[in-house]
Formats: sequence, structure tokens, C-alpha cells
Amino acid sequence: CGIIAYTGKRQAVDMLLAGLFHLEYRGYDSSGIAVLGKNKIELRKKKGKVEELKKSILCHPLSKSTIGIGHTRWATHGVPNEINCHPHQIGNITLVHNGIIENYKTLKNSLEKQGYVFVSDTDSEVAAACLNACYKEERHALKAMAKAYQLLEGSFAFAILFEDHKEAIYAMRKHSPLVIGYGEDENFVASDISAFLQFSKKFITLQHEELAEIKKDNVHVYNLELKEVYKEPEISLLDANSVQKNNFDHFMLKEIHEEPQVVKDTIHSIMPNDVSDLSNAFPNLEKFNNIHIVGCGSAMYAGMVAKYMIEQYVRIRCECYCASEYRYQTPIYDENTLAVFISQSGETADTLAALRKVKEYGVKTYAIVNVIGSALSKEADHVIYTQAGKEVSVATTKAYCSQLCILSLMTIHLALLHNKLSSEDLKEIKEELSLLPDYIEKMIDYPYYETLAQQISTHDNVFFIGRGIDYILSLEGSLKLKEISYIHSEAYPAGELKHGTISLIEDKTPVIALVNEERLYEKTMSNIKEVKARGANVLLFVKDMRNISEDVYDECFLLPSLSKFLQGIVSIVPLQMLAYTCAKQRGCEIDQPRNLAKSVTVE
Ligand code: G6P
Repeated sequence: CGIIAYTGKRQAVDMLLAGLFHLEYRGYDSSGIAVLGKNKIELRKKKGKVEELKKSILCHPLSKSTIGIGHTRWATHGVPNEINCHPHQIGNITLVHNGIIENYKTLKNSLEKQGYVFVSDTDSEVAAACLNACYKEERHALKAMAKAYQLLEGSFAFAILFEDHKEAIYAMRKHSPLVIGYGEDENFVASDISAFLQFSKKFITLQHEELAEIKKDNVHVYNLELKEVYKEPEISLLDANSVQKNNFDHFMLKEIHEEPQVVKDTIHSIMPNDVSDLSNAFPNLEKFNNIHIVGCGSAMYAGMVAKYMIEQYVRIRCECYCASEYRYQTPIYDENTLAVFISQSGETADTLAALRKVKEYGVKTYAIVNVIGSALSKEADHVIYTQAGKEVSVATTKAYCSQLCILSLMTIHLALLHNKLSSEDLKEIKEELSLLPDYIEKMIDYPYYETLAQQISTHDNVFFIGRGIDYILSLEGSLKLKEISYIHSEAYPAGELKHGTISLIEDKTPVIALVNEERLYEKTMSNIKEVKARGANVLLFVKDMRNISEDVYDECFLLPSLSKFLQGIVSIVPLQMLAYTCAKQRGCEIDQPRNLAKSVTVE
């Protein structure tokens, strides 16, 4: 979910809507704003995207006001409708909330006994009532917030209006991120700075256990004892103009087209000179013989590629975990364990919680993160930035590619440290690293994605198969396809399909087979024949056409042949393009698929 709040010299409605459009990547199933009118707080909420809210305000304008709060929601408690949509108002209090109040049921029961009546199913409305009850006792905004802070369990970031404090916005946070932006005679509160970047680059990050009072010409931050905390503002290096589609139909397509440059920038940032010494980028790596890689979604799939390469080619122990599991498991750590956390946003709640957990055990941590200054980047012992720039499309492409780049370079560095690379290997890698952007460009420019996609886009079920690294890349290819085209898709190890799932293969079922693994070539070919014999329509992505008879495939895509450390970075690109083209043929809303959010800041 996304939060924006504004107080200043301009019309709050305009500023809030502008902020909400930038925050839509955090959730877009409903949105709402509240402004402090002359006599009372006025609310407007709408189901659906921010555009719906804007239309409603254009038809029935709110009062002219220069102070207000706004929210775009990714539903957790309660279906996405206007009642559950933020802001929530109880008595004097109107607030927007990110996070989850874990003890909301207990609080709700006790507040109901005090006479509070709830209209929504949300935990956020309970938080508003809790704050209202505290305010009735304290008659002081900050004291009431400090009191409510102790009562509310879980995670939260709030922007709050008190009806009788007409000139201030209040904010507080526990775990969920919140920043305060400084303008001239205007100030902002937001869940991230993209919401106000076009107006101000100067900001502070509100920390855990901090409260803030924001007026148009001053900002005061306090700890829970209400002692003022001084914070030095930072200047964001992000470019406000990077968020344009240019001439592309969708951000996803634009971002795929940026991959050659992103890969170039990422490689350059890790190895300004030479691949033979990457110890600045990956410090002390020689100490570790047990590596845990942790992430969610595509970030985890990038981690799985690294696990495979590190075990296969470096021969040290490496596990990859999904963060939502890892945070509640008891993996085996020792002083030689390194935990690597991968995240585009750097603020995924599960990934952050997993990092905090291993830090309690004294485990050393790396973060591979795209967003500069994000929570993960600040809390890890060492941070490595992917150089993907702002990624707008909810389905990640260029950030995943740059994660693969960093993980490949990390594996190469480890392989060198463990004497697993010959000078010939290194020479080959050096040459290919400089050619990677060109290879990716060729993949993007392939002219027949439309034809390939037509084989898939009218079907309800699709399977991806591959062995070794091809299976892992298939997981990401399959995820891309299902998240944006809504075609049900499963990725399977090619040899495993016959143990059950093959029963789903019917006449013309599309099967996308990925074949890069040379040593498993014949084995995968046998598996492809198994599905072909059962009527499958096979789309073959292969890097070597020798010895392939035409009867094993229906369509074929030739991949370039690269070193085993780099093959994945190029081979994923056609799968991204295929997913994009299918979704386009099906008329899907590619950049903002239903039910998803780019950055999931709740558990
Ligand atoms: C969400 C997104 C996924 C993303 C995952 C992890 O679920 O929809 O595309 O891979 O979060 O996000 P992160 O920012 O941690 O990489």
C-alpha cells in the first residue's frame, strides 16, 4: 500500500492525487484521500485504480484545502471496496495505514465494549479507534500517539489528521517505511519518496519508534518519550523524470529494452576494471563455506540460479530460501555462514524480517538491492546495488536481469577464490561479459514473438520444462507468464513431469522446453519426446540445433551459446518477451496485473 500526505501552499487534492499515481505500484485495488476542509474533514474513496478516484473528484470536487492525506491500497484485511478503503475516520481521527495490526481482534473487542462501532473489516479502522480512545484520555496529539504506539502490535506506518489540529499532519511508524519530504512552504509524508520526488528531493526517514508533527513550514520528530530527535535531511539521487513510458506501449516493454544498458551498468559497477579481482564488490567471501540466499518471488528465483551455480561450479554449500519460510525456520548457521538477501525494492516485509532474524544470530549479511537507501540496504552488513534504475512495471524484468548479473559475478569470484576457474575459462568470461549487452539486444529484437505467442495465448494451461539451470530459469519464465497473462502455467524439472503432471498434457497443450544444459541435452530431448508423443505443442528454446530432428518441436528459438556462468542472463530475455507478447495478445493490463503489488510491505 502507498501513503502520501501534504501540507503547504498548493491544493492538497492535486498534490495527493499526483503522489498516489506514483505510488500505485504498491497496490491499486482502491484509493482514497481526506482533506481538512474549513469545518470538517472531507473524505473521498473509490474502488479500483487512482484514475477512478480522480474522475470522482473531478465530477464532485472536494473543498479547496492545502492539507490532506491519501492512500492506495493492496488489500490485506477485508475485500477491496469503498468501505475498507483508506482513509479511516473515527471521531477526531482520520488516518491512512500501511502494515498489519496483529492484535486488532483483541483491540476491536475491547473498543466495542467502550461503544465504538466499526463499519469496515480492516485492522486500520481499529487503529483509528484506538488512537481516538487515547486522544480522549490525553487531549494531546503526540501523547495520544505515543500511547497508541504501545497498544498496537505488528507493523504500521500512519499519516494522521486530527480534526482539531487544522495546521498539522502527524506520522508514526513501526517497521513499515515512512519518509518526510521538505519543500519550500510545503512538506510531505509518504511511504517512499517517489510520491513527492517531482516536488522535492530533500527528505528524512522516520525510524522505528519515532513520531512526527509536520506543518507547512516546519517538521518536528520525537521519540516515544516525546523528546525531540534531530535528523539531518538527505538529498535523493533519484531522477524524477525516469518514470516515463517514452514511446513504448507498456513500462514492461520499455524496461526489457533497457536490459542491455542495465547489464552494462551493473557489470561496470561491480568490476570497474577486471573480473579477476572482485573482492571490493564481494568482501571477505573466502571466509564463507555455507551460503544462504533469501528473497521473494523473482528475487528468490534469481537466488536459485546462484545456488545452482555455486554448488555446481564452486562446490561449496549453498541453499536458497523463500523469505516467508526462512524467517520461521531454523536453518543451520555457523561462523562460516553468509546470508545474502535479494530484493528489488529493499523493503519486502518477509525479506526484511528474515534479515533481522539472522542478524540476531550474528550471521554476516549481504543485500543485493535496487532501491538506494531502502531498509534492506541500510540494515545489511554489506550492500551491492543492482543498477536497474526505477522499475515501474509490477512484473520485474530488468531488475531480475541485473540480480542475475551480480550473482553470476559473485559466483565467478567465488570460483576464482576456490581455484575452480582456469585461465581459459576466465578469458572466455571476460570476452563474453563485454558482449552480453549485444546478445540481450538480439534476443529482444527477435522478430517472431507474435507467432510464438499465438501458440500459447489462446490456451488456459501451459507447461515449462527444463533440467538443471533450465528448470530454474523456467520457474521465472513461467511466473512472468502467469502474473501478467493470467494463463495458468507450471514449470517442471523435465524428468519429473512424468511422475504425475504429464496427465495434464493433452492434444495441443503448449510446452515450452528450455535446453541450455549441454551435459543433460539428450535426457531433456527424451522428455520433450515424451510430451510430444502425447500431443503437446512444443516451443523449443535451445542453444545448439545440432542433432535436433524437426519432429520434436513445433516452433524453435535459437539461443546464443555462452559460458555456463552467463547463459541464464541471456536465456531469460526471450521468456520475458514471450510472456509480454502473450499478455498483450490477451489484452491484459500488463503493467499492473490484478491482485499484485510491486512492493509487498506486509507479511
Ligand atoms: C512482489 C512482486 C514480485 C517481486 C516480489 C519481491 O510479490 O509482485 O514481482 O518479485 O514482490 O519483491 P522485491 O522488491 O523484494 O524484489
